[in-house]
This record gives sequence, structure tokens and C-alpha cells, in this order.
Amino acid sequence: MNYKLTRLDGEHIVLVPTGEIGYNKELIELYKNWLNTDQEVRKGLGDKNTYNYSDIIGLFDRYIREELHFFIYLKTSEGLKPIGDISVVIRGNDLDSFSSYYNYGQGVGYFKIMLGEERSKGYGTEAARLFLAYLIDQLGFEKIFSSYYSDNTASKKMHERLGFRNLFKKNDEGREEIFSELTKKKMRKK
Ligand SMILES: CC(C)(COP(=O)(O)OP(=O)(O)OC[C@H]1O[C@@H](n2cnc3c(N)ncnc32)[C@H](O)[C@@H]1OP(=O)(O)O)[C@@H](O)C(=O)NCCC(=O)NCCS
Repeated sequence: MNYKLTRLDGEHIVLVPTGEIGYNKELIELYKNWLNTDQEVRKGLGDKNTYNYSDIIGLFDRYIREELHFFIYLKTSEGLKPIGDISVVIRGNDLDSFSSYYNYGQGVGYFKIMLGEERSKGYGTEAARLFLAYLIDQLGFEKIFSSYYSDNTASKKMHERLGFRNLFKKNDEGREEIFSELTKKKMRKK
């Protein structure tokens, strides 16, 4: 990965590159809890795995080396509080599903977001808007792909509000998953 990532400062939140944070023990523990015990996170991500400490270290390895990955921090009167993560993946299985929707060499990525705390307060939409504008306007991405389950109302509304357009659907063990794309032209900044 050749991107030089910088902090992104929003109104209520700040996105901090995971490479800048490094292997922070408290954050690793918090992240493990979100992934293992937060049922809304597990349902939203469709994740049935259980993660031990070394699994999380493995994820951090990947986040720091291969992905454009940030943690989302909320600005509070006591300082910055980690509330989730946001990233774009530039190779691998997640992107393979979209192979007929882009040409080789185009700047594309697969978007992921998760709030382990402070959901439904507008912070997910704020973080996503800041991040996607950065990818498209500053880093030169041409298309961002994403997917979400139809029953995940917050995610569905967030994607629609940001300007994602549905491409196709899949049925994943009886749950409908919508696959979508965002282009610079369609990106909504308000
Ligand atoms: C999906 C997610 C990132 C959205 O972020 P958020 O901060 O909770 O959502 P926001 O407060 O920005 O709200 C986005 C929209 O959903 C609506 N919404 C939020 N929570 C909702 C809920 N529980 N039920 C129904 N609608 C909801 C909001 O009213 C808003 O709609 P609007 O744009 O029409 O005003 C967050 O809920 C999350 O991380 N969930 C768990 C993991 C997950 O599902 N990740 C996404 C996988 S694709």
C-alpha cells in the first residue's frame, strides 16, 4: 500500500489511521469485544466468528499493512473516545464480487464501516461522508463498492443518503444482501 494516510477531522468525530495508532492494547481489547459480543455489530456484518487476542492482532496487521483503515473517534469533553472503525479494501474476495463492474487498473475499493458504540446518532453517516470524500477527492478513487443486508435499516439508509446505487442482490442463507457502488458524480456531500 503506497498511500500516505492522514487524520480526518469532522464536526463530531475524527478518523485516525490505524497505522498511526499501532497495536494499542486497550483498543485491541475494545475491538475484540465489539466483534465478539455486540449483537448489532455481528448481525450488521453477518459475522459468526469468535475472535481471540491473536486473531485481532492478525486483523490489525492487515489493517496497518494492506488496507486503508481508520478508527473512528468521537470528540467528547474528556477527549477522543473510540467508537468504531472504517476502511476500504483494495484487493481480495470482497472486491471480486464486483469484478464485472470495473476495469483493470481503475481505482476501486470495497467500503466497510462498523460502530461498536454510539450508533444511530448520525456519526456513521458523518464518518462515511468524510472518509468517502477523502478517498474520491484526495486519493483519486474512481468507484467505491459496498454491500449491506436489506434488513439493516441504518446501513441501508446511510448508503442511500451518501449516494450509493444498487447494482445487484444476493441471497446469503436466506438474508438478502444488496451490492452497490458510489461514483464521484453520485456522491452526496450533504
Ligand atoms: C450501519 C451504521 C454504520 C450506521 O451508522 P449510524 O451512526 O448508526 O447511523 P446514522 O445515525 O448515521 O443514521 C443513518 C440513517 O439510518 C437511520 N437509523 C439509524 N439507526 C437506525 C435504527 N436503529 N433503525 C432504523 N433506522 C435507523 C437514521 O435515521 C438515518 O436515516 P436518515 O439518513 O434517513 O436520516 C451503524 O449503525 C453500525 O455500525 N451498525 C453495526 C455494524 C453494521 O451494520 N455495519 C455496516 C455493515 S454494511
